[in-house]
This record gives sequence, structure tokens and C-alpha cells, in this order.
Amino acid sequence: MTSPSAPQPSPGPARPAPAISVTGLRKTYGSHAAVDGLDLHVETGEIFALLGPNGAGKTTTVEILEGFRVPDSGTVRVLGEDPASADRAWRSRIGVVMQDSRDTPELSVAELVHHVATYYPSPRDPDEVIDVVGLRAKAGTRARQLSGGQRRRLDVALGIVGNPELLFLDEPTTGFDPQARRSFWELVLSLREGGTTILLTTHYLDEAAHLADRAAVVQDGRVVALGAPDELGGVQARLPVVHWESGGQAHAERTSHPTALVARLAAEVPLVDGEVPGLRVERPSLEDVYLSLIGDTAARAAHAGDPGDHAVTTTSNTSTAAGTAASAPIARLETKP
Ligand SMILES: Nc1ncnc2c1ncn2[C@@H]1O[C@H](COP(=O)(O)OP(=O)(O)O)[C@@H](O)[C@H]1O
Ligand SMILES: [Mg+2]
Repeated sequence: MTSPSAPQPSPGPARPAPAISVTGLRKTYGSHAAVDGLDLHVETGEIFALLGPNGAGKTTTVEILEGFRVPDSGTVRVLGEDPASADRAWRSRIGVVMQDSRDTPELSVAELVHHVATYYPSPRDPDEVIDVVGLRAKAGTRARQLSGGQRRRLDVALGIVGNPELLFLDEPTTGFDPQARRSFWELVLSLREGGTTILLTTHYLDEAAHLADRAAVVQDGRVVALGAPDELGGVQARLPVVHWESGGQAHAERTSHPTALVARLAAEVPLVDGEVPGLRVERPSLEDVYLSLIGDTAARAAHAGDPGDHAVTTTSNTSTAAGTAASAPIARLETKP
């Protein structure tokens, strides 16, 4: 036995198990692979966004994680269990907002939220939940008489009233007006503050940028990019692009040294009223990066050697000093006729 005075080994902070762990997930419909070797790890306490075009396999994946669809193959662990065989206790720990609303019985908002709360061992206060999703004025309204956006907020209320550890939100803000979307974002962030892990799918890249700690871009049933929203696509894709015009043509160059490039342009390009014509420096947005990721993958899938509509030259980062940049040829933005 250890004596009371012996120093105890300090166990270091325990890293909680991932909330979601998926490897090699596959699901086919007929001959079509909706999910095709997808890997995904969502840490406890984070907001994780699944991005991707329609038909990428996001909903299929989420519904497998929720236990509503059975995969063909792959390993899936959600809160430590396989959703395909998990029990009611497991189900009470997750909250679900599906992409398509379920049919609604002839019940009012308040009746529904109060009713669903009774299924859970430690629900939130249903009236507070109705407040938090902004439906207090509609508490007595029958669900089927709500507008699309109100109906969606009711879905969210039903997803969170059970006080879940893990919340699935499949395109939760479709049909929201901008103000409703903003208040929904605040709600999601406050849920994370309270310790809820959230897996979100969204079409709105600003939503992912605002909410997500990490995001995965899914295409053709697999993850093609993964990272924090402001790091997605890697350093190269994030470099600023300098645009200008000369000789009647538009030019663009991606560079880690925009100041040096602008200085060089000011010296080399014929100025108009003392300005480099068409000069602008743009830092790619998440949307730009996303579109180039999706485009790149589609192009690779089609074995296209064609660079696409635009070819932006890249000045590489690392050891390139301003002097090197100054001697590099000025690139041209080729626009296909
Ligand atoms: N129940 C189903 N039966 C047949 N095909 C389906 C079914 N559900 C989804 N699919 C197909 O699987 C692919 C992925 O769909 P889905 O997971 O809904 O993608 P996303 O949510 O990314 O738009 C699509 O091609 C879709 O048509
Ligand atoms: Mg979907």
C-alpha cells in the first residue's frame, strides 16, 4: 500500500473520449455510395460543422450517427456506443434536429415542448426553452400553423429540451430570416458554453465560420478537407491575392508578401492618376476556399487537367524574401474566352 506521505503521481488532465468517432463509414443506396469511406472525430465540447454540396452524404452520415440508418460498413462510436445497438439511456443523451421536420400532431408549441420534455430524465425547463428559441408569443399556437422559420425553431426547441450532451443540427437555420439566424447562433454558442457538443451541417459558410471550432468539407461521401474554419484548405489557399490591370488585361497573384508585390507593381505598371489600375488585395474568405476545394475535388474526380476558368499564380511562402518576389515574373489571370 502507498503510505500517506508518499508523493502521488500527478495524473495530468484527463482527455475526454471523443464524442463522435467514425472510421471508414460506408452506406450505399443501390449502386450509389452516399457515404464512401468517411472518417470523422468530434471532440467533447466542440461545435463541429459538416459542409458540402447537396448530395454529399451529410444527412446520411448524421442519421447513421443518430441511429436512424444502419451503415453497410465502418466503425461508429457516439458517446462511446454504437448507435445501431444503443439503448434508450443513450438516446436520452443526444438531441436531434433533423433536416426535415417530423409530422406534427395537433398540439400547440407549449404542449409539444412540455410533452417531449417528459421523455428525458433531466430535461430543461420547457418554458425557458420556448423563450430561448423565441417562440414565447407562439406558445399557444398549433405547430402546423407556424411559419417555416418558426417551425424550425420549434424543431430546435424539441432537440434541446432533453438537455442533451450531444446535439445534432442538420441545416437548422434553413428558412430563418437574418435576425432569427443571429439569435439562433447565440443560442448555439450558449449551448456550447454549457458544455453541449454540437454537430452541425449547414449550407451557410458564414454560419460555419461564426460557430464552428472545426469543420469538415464532405464531398462524394468522404471528407476532403478538415480544420478550423479560418485554416481550412491550408496556408496556401489562405494567402492573399493581389489583383491589378495592365495592358488591358486582368492579373492576379497569390502571395505571402503582398506589400512587396504592390511596391513592385507601383514601379513597373503604367500608373493612372498615380494609381495601379484595378489594384486590390483580397484575403480568400471561407467561401472562396470552400469553392476551390469543391471545384478541385470535382475536377480531380473528372480527371480534368484543365485548370478551370481562372489560373492564379502563387508566390510561395517559406523563404521567399521581398527581393525574390521583386524578381518573380508578374502573373496573369487567364480568363477563358
Ligand atoms: N433513402 C435514400 N434512398 C436512396 N438514395 C438516397 C437516400 N437518402 C439519400 N440518398 C442519396 O444519397 C446521397 C447523399 O444524400 P444526403 O446524405 O441527403 O446528402 P446531403 O445531406 O449532403 O445533401 C444523395 O445522392 C441522395 O440522393
Ligand atoms: Mg442533407
